[in-house]
Amino acid sequence: MSAPNTSIKRIGLLTGGGDCPGLNAVIRAVTKTAIYRHGIEVVGILNGYEGLICNDVRELDASDASGILTRGGTILGTNNRCSPLRYPDGTNEDGSTRYIDATDRCLKTIEHHGLDAIIVIGGDGTMSCTAPLVQAGVPCVGVPKTIDNDIHGCELTFGFTTAMTTAAMSLDRLHSTADSHHRVMVCELMGRNAGWLTLSAGIASGSDIILIPEIPFDYDAIIAFLDERMASPAGFAIIACAEGAQEVGHGQTVSKVVDGSPDPIRLGGIGHLVADEIERRSRFETRTTVLGHVQRGGTPVAADRVLATRFGVAAIEHLLAGRHDRMVVWSGGTISDIGILEAAGNQRLVPLDHPLIDAARSVRTCFGDGG
Ligand code: F6P
Repeated sequence: MSAPNTSIKRIGLLTGGGDCPGLNAVIRAVTKTAIYRHGIEVVGILNGYEGLICNDVRELDASDASGILTRGGTILGTNNRCSPLRYPDGTNEDGSTRYIDATDRCLKTIEHHGLDAIIVIGGDGTMSCTAPLVQAGVPCVGVPKTIDNDIHGCELTFGFTTAMTTAAMSLDRLHSTADSHHRVMVCELMGRNAGWLTLSAGIASGSDIILIPEIPFDYDAIIAFLDERMASPAGFAIIACAEGAQEVGHGQTVSKVVDGSPDPIRLGGIGHLVADEIERRSRFETRTTVLGHVQRGGTPVAADRVLATRFGVAAIEHLLAGRHDRMVVWSGGTISDIGILEAAGNQRLVPLDHPLIDAARSVRTCFGDGG
């Protein structure tokens, strides 16, 4: 089938930001739909915006899209420390990194390869990087990805369900040691400033305490809860702690700052701090596990493959329908779209009246707030 009433004959496809299960499923859906249904050629841009800036691309044919549905990561490579508006290009006289606006380089690559539009798969940082392209008149369509499930306007991102499942299974496994040693086991989960991953995995694993960024915690409340829990017949406790969790009146715990990244702050370390403080204030032996990038790895679960496929197909249909500069989203049980720049720098946090919080409290989960 050839492209109907459209000037779009050849598109670029880019994955940006942290990898996430289901990226390859989107690449497959975009590529197969473009080629088989519309006769559109697809060019893969390698390693996120780096490929667009440095003219590093490869043609994708249908065989490239075969056999990748179940594979984690992205066959295109990705990058979460590269923005076209602030690209490192040599050093200044004082030895500091010199940054340039690399928009022209991106536009050159687009022109050189005859790309009529770009499909960008990424999180809010990656979407914000489309701004100079959108301003230059390049038709763009975004596809939201992240294990954090924190993209504005999108109720569910692919990758989240897989990460939640991995995290819940890991929390399940901590029960054996917690139970056998009568310990408190703290598990630090990803999620940046949003608690979706920790809240969902914590509920799924029956964690006793769930600490999320949206509900600052208080050590007195945690210890009071643990005193009761440790004295109960169970005699152990599991704490699911988001990397962005914070004590009342304190900031988040930063593990590093990645210069040049659209979102330079990397969170981490709070799990160890919580465990140390529990041991300091109580007689409970406490250990910490940091799940880290394990949560981003592995084959996507079936639900993420389905969502990723729907997003990929929708992205192509949006381009052909002239719905440019939009990002496809999952909202109200169906696919719709929002302005691609609306997603930029606009995170979706857990509302304090969310039914998941109420459900967790109903089964006596403690959020460290005494509630
Ligand atoms: O946004 C996905 C995510 O995994 C976050 O949950 C985490 O804070 C961050 O990326 C880690 O980034 P990096 O891969 O640069 O360590």
